[in-house]
Amino acid sequence: MKKYQLLAEHIQAQIEQGVWRAGDRLPSLREQVAHSGMSFMTVSHAYQTLESQGVIVARPQSGYFVASRPQSERSPTKAIHSGTVDINTYIFDVLQASRDPAIVPFGSAFPDPRLFPLQQLNRSLTRVGRNASAVSLTSNLPPGNEELRQAIARRYAAQGMRISPDEIVITAGALEALNLSLQAVTNPGDWVIVEDPCFYGALQALERLRLRALAIPSDIREGINLQALEQALQTSPVRACWLMTNCQNPMGFTLNQQKKQQLLALLKRYNVTLIEDDVYTDLWSGREKPQPVRAWDDGSSVMHCSSFSKCLVAGFRIGWVAAGVHARRIQELQLMSTLSTSSPMQMALVDYLTTRSYDAHLRRLRRELMERKQQAIEALHRHFPAQVQIHSHDGGFFLWIELPPHLDASALSDAALACGISIAPGKMFTTSQAWHHAFRLNVSWAWSEREEQAVRRLGTLIAQKLEQEC
Ligand SMILES: Cc1ncc(COP(=O)(O)O)c(C=O)c1O
Repeated sequence: MKKYQLLAEHIQAQIEQGVWRAGDRLPSLREQVAHSGMSFMTVSHAYQTLESQGVIVARPQSGYFVASRPQSERSPTKAIHSGTVDINTYIFDVLQASRDPAIVPFGSAFPDPRLFPLQQLNRSLTRVGRNASAVSLTSNLPPGNEELRQAIARRYAAQGMRISPDEIVITAGALEALNLSLQAVTNPGDWVIVEDPCFYGALQALERLRLRALAIPSDIREGINLQALEQALQTSPVRACWLMTNCQNPMGFTLNQQKKQQLLALLKRYNVTLIEDDVYTDLWSGREKPQPVRAWDDGSSVMHCSSFSKCLVAGFRIGWVAAGVHARRIQELQLMSTLSTSSPMQMALVDYLTTRSYDAHLRRLRRELMERKQQAIEALHRHFPAQVQIHSHDGGFFLWIELPPHLDASALSDAALACGISIAPGKMFTTSQAWHHAFRLNVSWAWSEREEQAVRRLGTLIAQKLEQEC
């Protein structure tokens, strides 16, 4: 890193730590040269960099001042020591309330199932049903069906990754893969790093395994704050880190390659295992599909978890973990809990993957999701008050919506449910208060009058809440 970048980072950290607050005048260039011992050019370059990032503003004749940015745009740098997690009851209640088929499912975590190749999958199931070995368990016991593990390993190879079928364990969806991975490297009471906000499944797993959460702030554009991560690693005996590096749920960001490599180096330095939750990358809609962090690891530090649930079929409940050195431990844990993943489902997936073009399906799916997301964004702009921020990223089918910070998205969720609309309020994704004003919206649905009306209704409810709070 160049000197001016170091200085810019240093000043930004001071701002985030509250040394300098919004509106404060920063030391002049001359004073900064004297403090830092750096040249005038370097200091001036650092200030200009911060100015271009909107962190500080220059006022003619007066100097440089800390910009006042909306709360949500600031990226806090401190880890939140949440300790024990107690969120499952709230998550369960919200998910239960949105199960009614009459409800407009903007809160759902799964894409519109009509986008999946259901006929082809049904044919695969029927073909497999005629095969006697479908009812035999033995060839599908942990680590799971060999052909399926090979098919998954070949998909990794196509991405330039070296992952042997022997280290892949087939699981009941990514959720089992993630839970087993966490269990394999922790004991009750251990500290685990998650993001703030993060996928609620991570919080539920921590609660179930009696682990303690250390939540690291994530920025809507840049993702996890590595500085805060390092501070947390320095101060707490962390055992594992559960993160999404591509198409993060709920915010949607993807870490750039450099940040992924820095993250891995940092975790290796502190001997912390990364449990990489990567269920949405096949829905990436940008130019080049991003690699997971596992692409730079030899299997000693990263357990890579994924599934077919978001891209091909949710109901089969088939996922996997590329577990590296932990593959045997994962199998032992699986034998003690679910024993194995359903044989016919594993075999039907092998049949589908070997007789159909999964990639052609993925191309269609990505195109359709992109179009639907665009339609949804246009509708939100039509019906939501201007103070609402709509965040969208390449890939996936979620939008992350921020209300003004004083509004509570849980109250909006209750009011919306009463009108037959579900949303996923920010409280589901955090152990802090930081995201209670935000919510996640699933926009994978074909846009019809029903969706348009639901968005209009949500807009009205938000406007009413804004008026009440005035
Ligand atoms: C980020 C994330 N990880 C994991 C899962 C679980 O995936 P699966 O349905 O394959 O168990 C989900 C599902 O909502 C998810 O959103």
